[in-house]
Amino acid sequence: MPTQVKEGVVSTALLKLPSHEVSLPLVEGTEREQAIDITSLRSDTGCITLDSGFSNTGACESGITFIDGEKGILRYRGYPIEELANHSTFVEVAWLLIWGELPTAEQLASFRRLLSDYELLHEGMRHHFEGFPANGHPMAMLSAVINACGCYYPELLETRINDEQFRRACAILVSKVRTMAAFSYRMTYGKPMMYPDPKLSYCSNFLHMMFSNPHARYDAPPAVVKALRQFLILHADHEQNCSTSTVRMVGSSGANVFASVASGVCALWGPLHGGANMAVIEMLERIREGGESVKSIVEKAKRKQFLLMGFGHRVYKNFDPRAQILEKTCGELLDELGTSDPLLDIARELAEIALTDEYFVERKLYPNVDFYSGIILRAIGLPLNMFTVMFAIGRIPGWIAHWYELSRDPTARIARPRQIYTGPTERHYVPMDQRVAGSTGSGA
Ligand code: SDX
Repeated sequence: MPTQVKEGVVSTALLKLPSHEVSLPLVEGTEREQAIDITSLRSDTGCITLDSGFSNTGACESGITFIDGEKGILRYRGYPIEELANHSTFVEVAWLLIWGELPTAEQLASFRRLLSDYELLHEGMRHHFEGFPANGHPMAMLSAVINACGCYYPELLETRINDEQFRRACAILVSKVRTMAAFSYRMTYGKPMMYPDPKLSYCSNFLHMMFSNPHARYDAPPAVVKALRQFLILHADHEQNCSTSTVRMVGSSGANVFASVASGVCALWGPLHGGANMAVIEMLERIREGGESVKSIVEKAKRKQFLLMGFGHRVYKNFDPRAQILEKTCGELLDELGTSDPLLDIARELAEIALTDEYFVERKLYPNVDFYSGIILRAIGLPLNMFTVMFAIGRIPGWIAHWYELSRDPTARIARPRQIYTGPTERHYVPMDQRVAGSTGSGA
């Protein structure tokens, strides 16, 4: 059967199988990146594709973020990350990612008002924090409390909420995530909860909730606010990374935006993803405390006994533009605060050795977004276990934008990959008195 020509199809690719040939459409994105559309592959050939880790699989078409990993390019809705980091605000970037255009003054002002309206937590929700153990991990608290939003806003649980409802859901998530993060920190350290101050900017308000006390208000220095603003902007989206793909996977079942975003927090937690920002600092601390030298860490990584945390990326094979900006921000922040951090010197030494070592050069392993970000978060005064929570606050707009894009896509289908089965072929039930260890598969 001839394949129907779809929109975006530029040519066809010929696939030669032992029994026959099929021609598959080649589709092209707006930045000229090409893909073989295999939608009809199984029905035409009986074959599926096998792609562990989805390195070669495009899971969707998306108009949100563009990355050219070879050239180190990152753009949100077409705007270069460098321009946004230098000129924009986090709230503006959130709007851009979610609704596709930079907001007008009026749109921005009304979104800011909505963020203020939703910055407080329902008292019932506040009590959740008192129920968590004081040493509970703030990422576990964050995913739980984001998901719990579904209990407080049941009218927003549909997949197909209207535009006004969606705007409210966005404001709830973007605004409350700060309050949730700050409350988890205050509770862990036995400090009284500080309520948000709507007169403050997004970043200053968060820092106020984190560090003010009833008897002593914390007014964040401009350099700290700027560094946090850049940190959040640089983390706001990164196309089909593990946590965003998780959000889309969960959302594809029709799950509501709170449940979908909460699943993103869980996926982000792992040390190969957002959890790397904590792991980098732990690695640098070990070196500083004399437990390990820079050289021995690099050698261990080359012998595959250890992963150099904050290094390598699935997509970037030249440099991660976010790491470059963050390294600069790091130096500027420490200078402006008139302080230093021995971990920055160690990080730079490590990067220098790794970047000239054949192992890392050959595999195109460069510092990623998590390599320098932790030093910024330390300088701001955040404790280590809050680092991945900070990544999550930044990533909220991206997760929402992807959930929204998916929920408005008439061609979207539930995500349901296939597999190549490698287990036993058919066999028959063995009664208990005839089983011997190992014969039923467990070997125990
Ligand atoms: C993020 O995807 C995104 O966009 C994520 C992110 C986002 O904004 O959402 O950018 C955020 O998650 C950043 C990445 C944070 N993780 C780390 O810093 C952990 C350390 N890095 C890695 O484990 C690794 O590089 C990954 C997870 C980031 C990428 O893994 P890949 O693409 O599966 O790479 P790979 O395992 O196929 O590695 C290729 C080779 C292997 O060697 P060979 O088998 O070819 O000999 O490079 C080696 C790997 O062993 N390698 C490393 C290494 N990373 C890869 N060797 C030492 N140290 C490392 N960090």
